[in-house]
Amino acid sequence: MTAAPLPPLRLGVNIDHVATLRNARGAAYPDPVRAALIAQEAGADGITAHLREDRRHIIDSDIDRLMAAIAIPLNFEMAATTEMQAIALRHRPHAVCLVPEKREERTTEGGLDVAGDMNRLADFITPLSEAGCRVSLFIGHDPRQIEAAARVRAPVVELHTGRYCDLVAEGAAEEAAMELADLLRGARLAHSAGIEVHAGHGLSFATVSPFAATEEIRELNIGHFLISEAVFMGLDPAIREMRRLMVAARG
Ligand code: PXP
Repeated sequence: MTAAPLPPLRLGVNIDHVATLRNARGAAYPDPVRAALIAQEAGADGITAHLREDRRHIIDSDIDRLMAAIAIPLNFEMAATTEMQAIALRHRPHAVCLVPEKREERTTEGGLDVAGDMNRLADFITPLSEAGCRVSLFIGHDPRQIEAAARVRAPVVELHTGRYCDLVAEGAAEEAAMELADLLRGARLAHSAGIEVHAGHGLSFATVSPFAATEEIRELNIGHFLISEAVFMGLDPAIREMRRLMVAARG
């Protein structure tokens, strides 16, 4: 008997760092919307863009232009602030991913503290859900956070894979294996609570496979590595290679 195929796995391409490069010179290029259209052509299932409070990469007009230009869903990443909620409600993107944000961090360093902020987050999510946005919470694998996500009725969680990727890069094989086991346990716990599971942060050709092979995970959001690799091999081939690895791992 052959095993049933795993459910499809979506690839969301995060184009923030095209904007980082553009903003480094204050120029009009490279254009993140052009990158999004290339990603769409290369078979991405969605585009992810993070409008940070300090507008360090994506800016408001990028979101306006992305909404008008792309035919695939936009996953709008944002902090749970009133300003961002108003922007999301104006655009009504397919998905809204809530992330913690600190001005001094280089990237999103940890997951949301859902357990410590349940009432506020539940109230924050309601109008977004009512506007038709699929709300996702970016969290670590701590079971308390996953259970809290279920309690605030988040339809989706995205598990933070950054620490695992860092440990792999450092060659800390044993700790990486433990972190991976915790992440996959978290994926199963969230799935069993009826939450759709996504994963992302720091993923590369070297680290994507165990997540792609995990049945409970339904979407991966990948940015920095793909944009970096695009410098050498082009964005379209980088996305296609990532997809090839995902398909190979999923079997
Ligand atoms: N998912 C979330 C929630 C993120 O905040 C980020 C980074 O913006 C990513 C995925 C993509 O991470 P990376 O750019 O490291 O691939």
